[in-house]
Parts: sequence; C-alpha cells; structure tokens
Amino acid sequence: VKVLHGRLGKVSLVGAGPGDPELLTVKGMRALRTAEVVLYDRLVSPRLLDEAPADAERIQVGKHGGHYSFPQDKINRLLVERARRGMNVVRLKGGDSFLFGRGGEEVRFLREHGIPCEVIPGVSSALAAPAAAGIPLTERGIASSVAIVSGHQVKDARNPVCWSSLASAADTLVVMMALRNLRSIVHQLIINGRSLTTPAAAIQSATTPHQRVVVSSLRDIAEEAERQGLVSPVLLIVGEVVHMADSRPVQGSVADEPAKSVQGMGR
Ligand SMILES: C[S@@+](CC[C@H](N)C(=O)[O-])C[C@H]1O[C@@H](n2cnc3c(N)ncnc32)[C@H](O)[C@@H]1O
Repeated sequence: VKVLHGRLGKVSLVGAGPGDPELLTVKGMRALRTAEVVLYDRLVSPRLLDEAPADAERIQVGKHGGHYSFPQDKINRLLVERARRGMNVVRLKGGDSFLFGRGGEEVRFLREHGIPCEVIPGVSSALAAPAAAGIPLTERGIASSVAIVSGHQVKDARNPVCWSSLASAADTLVVMMALRNLRSIVHQLIINGRSLTTPAAAIQSATTPHQRVVVSSLRDIAEEAERQGLVSPVLLIVGEVVHMADSRPVQGSVADEPAKSVQGMGR
C-alpha cells in the first residue's frame, strides 16, 4: 500500500476503444503505462491491462451478466480514495467514456471532491463498429444525419427515448445496448414510421476476433440476429447506408483468427 506524501494523485478517464487493443489512443496508452492503479470495465481487452506497469493495482469494476457487480458510488469512492493516497489512477472504460459510459457521473464526483482529473477520448463502438463492418454512417446523397440512441430502456414505462420522433429524425440510426430488446426496438421504429424494408445490420463484438455482422431488413433483423445466435455486445444500425456493409473479415485487427461475417439477406 502506497503512503501519502502530502501529494494528491490524479484520475485519468481513458476510453479504451471498441475491443481491438490497437484502437487505444497514443495518449491513452501513455496514461496506462504510468498508472499505479487501473479500474477497468469488463469489456476492456485483457491485452490492454498488460500495458500497465507490472506492479500496478488492477481492479475490475464492470458489469456481470447485465448487473453491476460494483455499484457506481463504490467506483466513485474508490477513485477518490486512491487519488487521495497520491496515486496515478487510470479509469479504463470501453469505447469512449462519455457515450453511455457514465463518465460524466465520475467526473462530476471527482470535481466535487477536488480531485484533478483528465478525460482522454476513446474510439467509440458507435463509430468503430459500422466502420469495421464497412458501413459509412453518412454518405453523400444517401445519409446526412445520424442519431445514436440507447436501446436499453425500450420497455421502461418512464422510457426517456422518444421513439416517435426518433424513428424518422435521422437518416442513420445507431442503437447501442440493442440485443436484449431488439424486437421491441424494431417494433418501435416500424410503428413510428420507419419502412419495413429499411436495411439494418446487427454487429457483434466489432474489431475483435468475435466480430459478426448480420445484415437484413428492419422487418427481419431481430429474427435473423436470434437465428444466427448473436451475443452481447451488439449494436444495431438502421438506414440505407447498410447497403454498403462489407461481408469480408475485419482488416487490420490483432485477431489471430478471422472475424466471421454472415448475411441474412441478399445484397
Ligand atoms: C454501456 S454501452 C458502452 C458504450 C461505450 N462507452 C462506447 O463508446 O462504445 C455498451 C454497448 O456498446 C456497444 N458496444 C460496445 N462495444 C462493442 C463492440 N465491440 N461491438 C459492438 N457493439 C459494441 C453495445 O451496443 C453495448 O451494448
């Protein structure tokens, strides 16, 4: 255990990227290599943890089976406590910390407690998954707007997602945390005016050896994703740009085995 020498440590919130460890930023890597303690989420690549000094403390604080094994307030308190011991703390989160990552809550708590903190952006899966599947989110003449939305609370009566305006608000929709409620999400989009024949893609574990891309119509994507046995993490893309999906394995991944890709609909 480190002793306090009157020095206050700091916390770096580092976006770990979507899965492929090579998609961590140079700045994120620099922070990781000088970390004295790393608090990391479950989806973070184990290879990244190897980049921290051998004697750095490593604490997994992520979700297990959809449940927080580590409540957020405990994470917040750990960050403050370690920084008060004078330690260099890295909070390593999947994708980007500020997109459905609760990074805002952590930064607010740290500020309230007078702990210096910096936010190092990460490559979000919202951008990396479509890129890895060959799907441009915007395309001249086809799509000039994108909305990124959570699919998590679709069955929640206090649902903050306004599907009625969202369904047609943007040319391309990216739905994160999409798998569990895929049927309900699709239903909401269709009853709120999105055409049944709109192309849709479900992308699993993008940029990792487990990447799989299922392409279908909005009407059939949920059934197709189930039939293909997709497992979390999965992101849904809806829009004409999905026509450009690439069925070839992911390029440039550190994957030893090629990523799998399947098509549920003729292109
Ligand atoms: C709690 S959110 C965290 C998002 C993260 N902050 C980011 O910027 O990528 C988790 C969701 O991100 C998406 N996700 C994360 N990594 C992914 C990946 N490698 N492939 C596909 N979807 C991914 C899935 O929709 C998953 O349910």
